[in-house]
Amino acid sequence: MDSFIKNLPKVELHLHIEGTLEPELMFELAKRNNIDIPFDSPDQVRQAYQFHNLQSFLDIYYQGANVLIHEQDFYDLTWAYLLKCQQDNVIHTEIFFDPQTHTERGIEFETVIAGITRALKQADQELGISSQLIMCFLRHLDEESAFTTLSKALPYKKHIIGVGLDSSEVGHPPEKFQRVFQEALNHGFLSVAHAGEEGSAQNIRDAIEMLGVTRIDHGVRCSEDPELVAELVAHRMPLTVCPLSNTKLKVFETMQQHNIIELLRKGVCVTINSDDPAYFGGYMNDNFLAVAHAHEITKQELAQFSINAIEASFISPHAKEDMITQVRHYLANH
Ligand code: ADE
Ligand code: ZN
Repeated sequence: MDSFIKNLPKVELHLHIEGTLEPELMFELAKRNNIDIPFDSPDQVRQAYQFHNLQSFLDIYYQGANVLIHEQDFYDLTWAYLLKCQQDNVIHTEIFFDPQTHTERGIEFETVIAGITRALKQADQELGISSQLIMCFLRHLDEESAFTTLSKALPYKKHIIGVGLDSSEVGHPPEKFQRVFQEALNHGFLSVAHAGEEGSAQNIRDAIEMLGVTRIDHGVRCSEDPELVAELVAHRMPLTVCPLSNTKLKVFETMQQHNIIELLRKGVCVTINSDDPAYFGGYMNDNFLAVAHAHEITKQELAQFSINAIEASFISPHAKEDMITQVRHYLANH
């Protein structure tokens, strides 16, 4: 089963590029950019990654991003992640970035997007990995800051397929960003939002109704509302679930208690993703393996996660067909 998982073609739909900053690169960039970090070694950084909820993670995560200054830093960060994709047989990835984490520190939007897109283009050409880019608004910041960020993104619209919403969910409901999402939709961006990670099932309903999302990021707390689960099934509303993230941030105490398999068997379009792999202990293969080791699951069900992700992705119908054929072919031969 492990080798089936490792070689299965996969699509990632929930990945924060800032969350791929491995401690070794953090140290290298801190040195290169003359930035103080409160750790003596990469191992010491790893030991500090003990989280008890989302906020305890976010505090460390935003601090880590301080070492990212130059275009080359964003390129190095993104390229390192894409090499992990190659290792894990990820054939397509849709990447979040948080512009406000950088613009609030005086880094230009242009610097961030130039570094990321240079790596994405190279991965397409040299590794055969396709990608899309999604810009997230930080929900702990105000609506005005989100509007400013949207206006900064407009000159780079051809590089950005959609907008998303991340950071602290509790206390910052979808409603707060209804107007800026409407404006983004008017400009032709697609939309997604983190909802039902730590926050209630109601946030999932509100993200769908108020923010016009075509996917829900996390969404695992839908189980608290059986009618909502039935609606997610009926509308094939995808959930980009992140198993290792959910156990590290104590959304579920153990992987055995995780509801991803139950949701899959109910017919929800659930997918497996890595969220912030440098912080949560693993990339795509590790997430698939963790689920498969904690639950009785068939090869067909594992392949269904890939097929769901392809269906939920922001690529052309033709590209989807090609990828689904790859997965079906793999399943038939392994
Ligand atoms: N930003 C990065 N990872 C996140 C997560 N899991 N939830 C909310 N915001 C995030
Ligand atoms: Zn996330």
